[in-house]
Amino acid sequence: MFKKIFGSGKNTPVDIDKDKLPKHVAVIMDGNGRWAKSQGLLRSAGHLAGVKTLKKILRFANDIGIEALTVYAFSTENWKRPKEEVDFLLSLFSEYLAKELDEMNEENVRISFIGDRAGFSEKLQNEMKNAEERLKNNTGIRFTIAANYGGRDEILRAAKKFAEDTNIDAKNLTEADFERYLDTADAPPVDLVIRTSGEMRLSNFLLWQAAYAEFWVTKTPWPNFSTEEFLEAIRSYAARERRFGGV
Ligand code: IPE
Ligand code: IPE
Ligand code: MG
Repeated sequence: MFKKIFGSGKNTPVDIDKDKLPKHVAVIMDGNGRWAKSQGLLRSAGHLAGVKTLKKILRFANDIGIEALTVYAFSTENWKRPKEEVDFLLSLFSEYLAKELDEMNEENVRISFIGDRAGFSEKLQNEMKNAEERLKNNTGIRFTIAANYGGRDEILRAAKKFAEDTNIDAKNLTEADFERYLDTADAPPVDLVIRTSGEMRLSNFLLWQAAYAEFWVTKTPWPNFSTEEFLEAIRSYAARERRFGGV
């Protein structure tokens, strides 16, 4: 009846053909603050609730056999927020890495970060590097956290890396060559972008990588986003026809 798809986690069967599954899903986890406000809570409580949702979605995505999940956690524009909120988010990253790494390791998750790490403290940069190192030999989902990430900033940094690379001639540069200078160099192309909390914009997320991604938006704020809704997005993707400019 159902064609079973086995990921590397707890093996949740879903009734979608494996070749219709998106390989790489990217999520703009938006609406923590509005959710908190609606509950009469501080924005920080929204971010804490958001971490719980992230754990649930990561496990589920791994279980159903999604190859790569990239989540937008902190944009290059998010520094504009009040200092207390920025500090809270940064301490939440550290706490998340300290607390969740063992479980991610048990579930065979690989982790990596995209974005400009130089903007973070040396301590946090080390925590990121250690997390990547520790999980690098796992074979399950490739989980990427976009932190101090902006698509324009990434492309600009890539251009600078290219300019400094004397091994390649600008006249011969191809898209495939250029992609290797991006933070996502070894990730599959983004197939599906999900945004929670209703806004219909990219907010500087994966500008290059999402060029031909499918979009799926829900009004549900990130803290209330469920595995059922994630599956709804995957089903919607599986039913679409991608043309990439062809006929
Ligand atoms: C997303 O939720 C999390 C981050 C940007 C860090 P928001 O904090 O943007 O929540 P809203 O959009 O204000 O509701
Ligand atoms: C995008 O959300 C960034 C993250 C989810 C980390 P924002 O809340 O910062 O985006 P805008 O300001 O509504 O475009
Ligand atoms: Mg927001």
